[in-house]
Amino acid sequence: MKEQLQAIKLSVESALKDADTLEALEEIRIKYMGKKGELTAVLKGMGKLTPEERPVIGALANEIRQNLETEIESKKKTIESRLEEEKLKSEVIDITMPGKKTNVGKLHPMTQVMNTLKEIFMGMGFSIAEGPEVEYDYYNFEALNIPKNHPARDTQDTFYIEDNIVLRTQTSPMQVRVMEKTKPPIRIIAPGRVYRSDTQDATHSPVFHQIEGLVVDKNITMADLKGTLERFVKELYGEDTRVRFRPHHFPFTEPSAEMDYSCFNCGGKGCSVCKGEGWIEILGCGMVHPKVLENCGIDPEEYTGFAFGIGLERIAMGKFNINDLRLFFENDMRFLEQF
Ligand code: DAH
Repeated sequence: MKEQLQAIKLSVESALKDADTLEALEEIRIKYMGKKGELTAVLKGMGKLTPEERPVIGALANEIRQNLETEIESKKKTIESRLEEEKLKSEVIDITMPGKKTNVGKLHPMTQVMNTLKEIFMGMGFSIAEGPEVEYDYYNFEALNIPKNHPARDTQDTFYIEDNIVLRTQTSPMQVRVMEKTKPPIRIIAPGRVYRSDTQDATHSPVFHQIEGLVVDKNITMADLKGTLERFVKELYGEDTRVRFRPHHFPFTEPSAEMDYSCFNCGGKGCSVCKGEGWIEILGCGMVHPKVLENCGIDPEEYTGFAFGIGLERIAMGKFNINDLRLFFENDMRFLEQF
């Protein structure tokens, strides 16, 4: 058995010398130390040896096995680092190669405009209130001083979910929701989607966006309204922009007005953007109607307030020079990628 081991030792040594791939090393390991390996067979036969022979042969066998294992390990390391080096050499990075273009996502133009307006108002100390798009008739109409059969309901082609539940036709119901919950001073904007059953065309869509504004405190006057809204427009279109207020009617404000600003394109001379007018309408506004304050549990003798509602689509169309509203809602990548 000793001779057998010596023979194995010699053949292991010569086999290892020639092995220069990981596969060759693995083959050697299996050949000698695998389940049916030559060395394994010898070790299995140890039981048949005499007690005197056993330690001598055992020590020799172990020495051979240990040698084999350490040799294989160190050869493996050498081969692996050689492979690594070869890999690095073959994988030289050519930094002059043109890069692959990744697709960068962009904010929807409506989102961009929404963010700009939010930032302007937040800069003036307004906080943001959000509320449901599926709204009670009470909040959308009743509490805003628009009772059943009021003609103002006709101008807001309403989607009814149930008798007393609608898709909000305006963000104004947020005025009521905020006043019900908050004690003045109140200074909020409420941005969001609104719905009207309009037939879709270049300037109408059954869903569009508004930003509602509401300020309630002691001694709030029309001067606060004008100052705030003029500041807003100047932040949006530049310091040279002028504004004008035209008397109007909204059931939930008294007095009410619509505000125009001098055309961002021609500065007021008249052009195709403002259709020769020099002015572009941007929002509706007014002093909160005493009845609305009362409906929300706020004493109109103690507090006054102003409110405004801004349509966002028209601002976005002007800003990005877009003449068809439908483009905003079709989500055609060729359109969206341009912003
Ligand atoms: N809710 C009105 C609309 O959708 C816009 C509006 C006008 C809102 C005057 C207001 C306001 O808060 O004071 O047509």
